[in-house]
Amino acid sequence: MIIFNGSASADLAWEVSRKTNLELGKREIKRFPDNEIYVKIQSYVKHEECYVIQSTRSSDDFMELLLLLDALRENKASRVHAIVPYLMYMRQDKQFTEGESVSAKTILKLLNESADSITTVNCHFIDSGEGDFNYHGIVFNNIDAFPEVGLYFKGKLTDPLLIAPDNGSLGRVRKVADLMDCKFNHLKKKRISGDTVEVEAKNLGVSGKDVLILDDIISTGGTIIKAVELIRKEDPKSVNVGCVHGLFLNGVEPFVNALDRVACTNTLPTPASKISVAEAIAKTIRKR
Ligand code: R5P
Repeated sequence: MIIFNGSASADLAWEVSRKTNLELGKREIKRFPDNEIYVKIQSYVKHEECYVIQSTRSSDDFMELLLLLDALRENKASRVHAIVPYLMYMRQDKQFTEGESVSAKTILKLLNESADSITTVNCHFIDSGEGDFNYHGIVFNNIDAFPEVGLYFKGKLTDPLLIAPDNGSLGRVRKVADLMDCKFNHLKKKRISGDTVEVEAKNLGVSGKDVLILDDIISTGGTIIKAVELIRKEDPKSVNVGCVHGLFLNGVEPFVNALDRVACTNTLPTPASKISVAEAIAKTIRKR
């Protein structure tokens, strides 16, 4: 078995190869003058089972992933597995209004064509749970990193209260509250546009508490910043934020300045990536 990494997940793939004792395969990735991506597999992969680890923050990351998977098949790898710690385009998993594309289906269909198995971490449209999920006939494996996020904060907060930013996150937050043996509550969120949200709260009971807001993704940061503003009004002891995928489109600094602690996993490498999903990915590989 050999692990390959795309350019978006180099450190994480290295960590996984150390944990699994598997070789990190050699490959060349470069750009043509017009910016098209060139991929060449340099390790001998004939009859080998291969894993490609590549998060997809951009369409180019996704293209690179498809080219790597395809190149492995061209070079006669026995099976090729896609491990996509952050899988983009998962927010649009159905038509919310008539005429819309269903991007989650498009992306998963393409991956399903190119790989013998698909693994991701906290796929956005799965509120809670891990293992195999069937989405429109495409089976993929979902790793739940929320327990790792909970464990990171467990010893750091003395009187924790967990907050879900919306109803959609309640399942995950309930699970982490069990693990941290504490209570939880939730806000009400209404998305006005891609970068504007309205957040409402009533009697959160956060006064004197170490509040931990948990979300799967921080993208623009609008959701969290609004939540923090509301919570601060109720005089908490501390306000902390944990998430799995830190896109931080406006940088990490606004969070570091506004919060007592902010931590996310390394599905996407950021200055706040203090929690590693390498062991969870290694476990998935060992199971095969
Ligand atoms: C939405 O359903 C997600 O769980 C996150 O709350 C959302 O993606 C965060 O986006 P932003 O950081 O742009 O508010």
